[in-house]
Amino acid sequence: MAETMTSAQVRESFIKFFESKGHLFVRSSPVVPHDDPTLMFTNAGMNQFKAIFLGDNPKGWKRVCNSQKCLRVSGKHNDLDVVGRDNYHHTFFEMLGNWSFGDYYKKEAIAWAWELLTEVWKLPKERLFATVYEDDDEAWQIWKDVSGLPDDRIMRFGAHSNFWEMGDTGPCGPCSEIHYDRGDIATQTETFKDPIKGVNGENDRYIEIWNNVFMQYERLSDGSLVPLKAKNVDTGMGFERICAILQGKTSNYDTDVFTPIISKVAELSGVPYNDGVEGTPHRVIADHLRALSFAIADGALPSNEGRGYVLRRILRRASRFARLLGQKEAFIYKLVQVLADTMGDAFPEIRERKDFVANVIKSEEESFIRTLDAGLERFETISADLKKGEKIPGDKVFLLYDTYGFPPDLTGILAEEKGLLIDEEGYEKCMQEQKDRARANMKKGINTMGSEGWTEYAVGSTQFVGYEADTAKVKVLRFREDKGILSIVLDTTPFYAEMGGQVGDKGLLQAEGLDIAIFDTIRVNDTIVHRGKVTKGEANKDTMSVEFVAKVDMRLRDDIRANHSATHLLQAALRQVLGSHVAQQGSRVEPGFLRFDFSHFQAMTKEEIQQVEDIVNDKIRATLPVNTDVMDVDAAKASGAMALFGEKYGEEVRVVKMGACGEEFSKELCGGLHVKNTGAIGMFKIVSEASVSSGVRRIEALTGRGAMALFRLEDSVLTVLRDKLRAKNDAIVERFELTLENARKLEKELADAKLEIAASAAAELLKNPEQVGEAKLYIRDTKAPDDGFKTLLDGIAQKIADDEVVVLGNVCGKAGSIAVLVGKALQKKGVKAGDLVKELAAYANGRGGGRPDRAQAGTREVEKVSGAIQHATEIVKTKLGV
Ligand code: SER
Repeated sequence: MAETMTSAQVRESFIKFFESKGHLFVRSSPVVPHDDPTLMFTNAGMNQFKAIFLGDNPKGWKRVCNSQKCLRVSGKHNDLDVVGRDNYHHTFFEMLGNWSFGDYYKKEAIAWAWELLTEVWKLPKERLFATVYEDDDEAWQIWKDVSGLPDDRIMRFGAHSNFWEMGDTGPCGPCSEIHYDRGDIATQTETFKDPIKGVNGENDRYIEIWNNVFMQYERLSDGSLVPLKAKNVDTGMGFERICAILQGKTSNYDTDVFTPIISKVAELSGVPYNDGVEGTPHRVIADHLRALSFAIADGALPSNEGRGYVLRRILRRASRFARLLGQKEAFIYKLVQVLADTMGDAFPEIRERKDFVANVIKSEEESFIRTLDAGLERFETISADLKKGEKIPGDKVFLLYDTYGFPPDLTGILAEEKGLLIDEEGYEKCMQEQKDRARANMKKGINTMGSEGWTEYAVGSTQFVGYEADTAKVKVLRFREDKGILSIVLDTTPFYAEMGGQVGDKGLLQAEGLDIAIFDTIRVNDTIVHRGKVTKGEANKDTMSVEFVAKVDMRLRDDIRANHSATHLLQAALRQVLGSHVAQQGSRVEPGFLRFDFSHFQAMTKEEIQQVEDIVNDKIRATLPVNTDVMDVDAAKASGAMALFGEKYGEEVRVVKMGACGEEFSKELCGGLHVKNTGAIGMFKIVSEASVSSGVRRIEALTGRGAMALFRLEDSVLTVLRDKLRAKNDAIVERFELTLENARKLEKELADAKLEIAASAAAELLKNPEQVGEAKLYIRDTKAPDDGFKTLLDGIAQKIADDEVVVLGNVCGKAGSIAVLVGKALQKKGVKAGDLVKELAAYANGRGGGRPDRAQAGTREVEKVSGAIQHATEIVKTKLGV
């Protein structure tokens, strides 16, 4: 084997090797995919190239290589539950890969893989195994020729392990894997074919290190396979696994990728690490720390749905394991620094955002710890009613998990201590329902991927001319129709496709006899797709083949530009007023408003909000020029331009600058559309400031036309108030308060007067009772309006003596009511108002009920009310036994 390499050297040596074979190095895309609604997290190196496999290759790439950040915690590829229990699965991992887009194929891919492993890295051939898809004789033969491995060490497997698919739909193909034997060579012959102990048996000894996928199909939504236009190669090598092998370790956790983190866990907790069961918490924490930190650095945040929910689960699992190490306070966040130190060179975003990441993790941990004790209490209540050997129902296990964040394995341990079991099947069922809900949310995105149903005129990519132009003469490259909605790809377009928070343009595509209203423009990877509806004529293969004029709706676009530029001014102003920790977490730029999410840990004060508004408006009045430079991404960052973390920037970026050259007030990497001069923003008004999640605040604001509309609306409200209150602006508030106070006073006087009247009416009614045993019974017909009747009852309730029963039959228009009030002593003897009213109401086909002291029933058969209440005498008699 070669001299021991550090993990950084392994990464570098892989990339250098493929660069020497003509590959272009491409940066890792964020682990949170911002442009694929079918995917929660990036789960393979090929994700960012999905559209290229499907035929869109605007940059004309042939060979690329990279090291991709991946998360396998949901969907088709999910390793969450096994993490920490073995030594080679991870939630977050790096995938080293090389790709051919319609260029080289099986022969070169296999030959180079073999060359890198055995000649550059000098892995012992006798420990290597190749696998191929069961009927892929071609790959088998290439392996034979290239490696000279014995026949039985080039093994054939079925679709389960040797046909790779990204998800339920999308590019796929047969694959060839390389496995490595980490065991005792003396026992290799007798073990390697064993389905459990051997290759592909998911054991610690024979581990898969590299997968070479020969992408040649697309899986469609009906399950069928269609050949791709070109044959491609997609390979993925498990970085942490190859590091372990090259560093002579049997566990990935013993490599320098993990040891600094694990040592820190041991140091901070005082619990030493070992590679047995006792070390599970250390391993889980080290793994989950990486997943959480990279996902947060790339723009995801823990929350209650979708990917945020997955992150929350990961964090809670980590936090539970920290508790097993005796940590009762937030702990995981303390490890972010060491992660930034070890990974910051390869992935600078983790170093740049470490404080923010640590803050988010810390506040999530703290809120989980607060629910932990409540969860334990809930567990006690749930388990109290169960006898030894019984199962905790699945929905309860799920409740503990979902509400208190108890992973089922934890509930299992707690149950075991009490001699109980858990209903795993029931839990799984609830979990599945939850997942279906999450997936349904993800899939709300539009399915624009895939190659089904397109009518194609020419292959090519779209030239975007929208920075300079708002109309253009264009031709359709391809289009398709789905339930009356057209998706159109053009050769040239002035339409901006939704990106970086800025909404897509709307407008019109026009040709002779055919109008298509474009209601949205979206980006599918690098392709601009116009979504439209025919408003005149008919769209078909012939009518769509002509030249069109594409016109952007300029009124909307002007408003979008103003809002986008104002967002930049807002960010710069926030940093000035609140501090340099303010960084963009998300934004939305629509024609009607702008929304800006940013990192900040407390609510802004009224003064801070006003200060920010003033700064932005000053910069608008200063009519600053807005200039754009196109430059290399590193040069742009070096020039101090603000970049959005987690955003996938190309090699060349646009830098938008506001202010005189050299003394710009704002400088940001941005591909969006902007005003030429800040004066065009008109004005700026913040309408709300609120919290979105821990450590993130949200501002919504209006500019120009939108702000004017708001002022007009508010002014019209003020005008009404001025008129009605007969007051000038400065006296409105005082006059209004006075009016309110008067109204309250009058209400109180009215209520008092009503009670007085009721009390005297009640006193009038409560005369000459009928004596029924020891009870004094009053049966009376009344004719009070609704609220009058209620007031009357209130009056009686104040006066009623212990031994009295009052039964009233009230008729008001078409509504009849029966009310009963019973004194305290009689209630104790079994005369209950609620029962009495029910029985009486039955005589008038009415319904009702109430408390023992007071109850009421209603009926529409008003003519029966008077007769019904007469039955009170006999009922009270029966109740009292007289
Ligand atoms: N896409 C394949 C995998 O993820 C190879 O890169 O295994």
